[in-house]
Amino acid sequence: MASCDSKPLLIQKPVHGGLGVRELRLLGLDHIIDFSSSVNPLGPSPKVKEAVARLDLAYYPDPESLELREALAAVTGVAMEQIVPGNGSTDLIHLTASSCLSAGDEAVVLGPTFGEYEAACRVAGASLHTISAEEGRGFSWDIQESCRTVRDLKPGLVFLCNPNNPTGVYLERREVEELAEAARPGMLVLDEAYVSFVDSAWDATELLASGNVMLLRSMTKDYALTGLRLGYALCPPGVAQLLFSRQPTWSVNAAAQAGGLASLSDQEHLIKAQRCVGGARDLIVRELQALRLRFLPPSANFVLVEVGEASSVRRQLLGKGICVRDCTSFGLPRYIRIAIRRKAECAVLLTALKDVLNEGTVAAVE
Ligand SMILES: Cc1ncc(COP(=O)(O)O)c(C=O)c1O
Repeated sequence: MASCDSKPLLIQKPVHGGLGVRELRLLGLDHIIDFSSSVNPLGPSPKVKEAVARLDLAYYPDPESLELREALAAVTGVAMEQIVPGNGSTDLIHLTASSCLSAGDEAVVLGPTFGEYEAACRVAGASLHTISAEEGRGFSWDIQESCRTVRDLKPGLVFLCNPNNPTGVYLERREVEELAEAARPGMLVLDEAYVSFVDSAWDATELLASGNVMLLRSMTKDYALTGLRLGYALCPPGVAQLLFSRQPTWSVNAAAQAGGLASLSDQEHLIKAQRCVGGARDLIVRELQALRLRFLPPSANFVLVEVGEASSVRRQLLGKGICVRDCTSFGLPRYIRIAIRRKAECAVLLTALKDVLNEGTVAAVE
């Protein structure tokens, strides 16, 4: 049996956006505008602070998150027995992989995408296959080819992010259904972390009836409960039971439950954020076109932009107090991902990007 200090047990931590204290210290910065995490630009609803302030922190949280699940059931139309909240959706990605995969099982990830799927599958001891979208096809997958690969591999889990981070590719319902069908008897995990910011998104909750699709939603994005940590899974009933049974008790702390409830009671705040993102996204698209930069059409609250050497552009922007996501860790060293923030903040970013462009690092379209 392996001991806990044995090297083979080490798993490479995925790289994420956002600046940790260590990097801020190294750079000698105490304030930046963060375009590297794609979060509601208005921050959480004011009701969240009020709800958290009212809490008595000396009590355990409700282990069932009952009121939160009731509220989520009302908002999503999914029965509360099928809803599993977690300490952010990252927690649920790991819980799903460790509950549904055994050592040696196959797992499939449609990439390039969010790094936690791979990490979770590796922790579970699964053998991972990535179906990589080609740059030449605008990073959209060949769905028929992907279905063939999935059918051949017979994975326990298939991870699909829709809209996809970082490319913004948003698959239609028919394409997701085809992938789910190919995944049988395995499960398609459809991560909808950014779906609230898609204009006219289709309703994926209807796919739950198929029995082998589960959805992940992240309240750290649309409701900006980023530091509080809250996400939820919508699952077929048996899968929800399985996840509950294996989730550590009190994973969802009292502040997250209260903050989640307060957020759900203020849908007006989310609508305001969606409008804010829509307006700022139009501005960014117009200005990137004017700068003659290549980018993928944004479907949600971030945009993938080709800039040449992404690590250098990120560094130069940090010098101007702005943080963007260098996409090298996604296997895209020529791209940065920019979150859509308020228009005024986007204007600051665009000015800084123009300066960097003039300094000669960014690759404008010839
Ligand atoms: C696609 C995707 N899923 C899930 C997450 C994790 O979200 P949470 O903060 O809820 O753990 C992220 C965060 O960046 C993400 O990009």
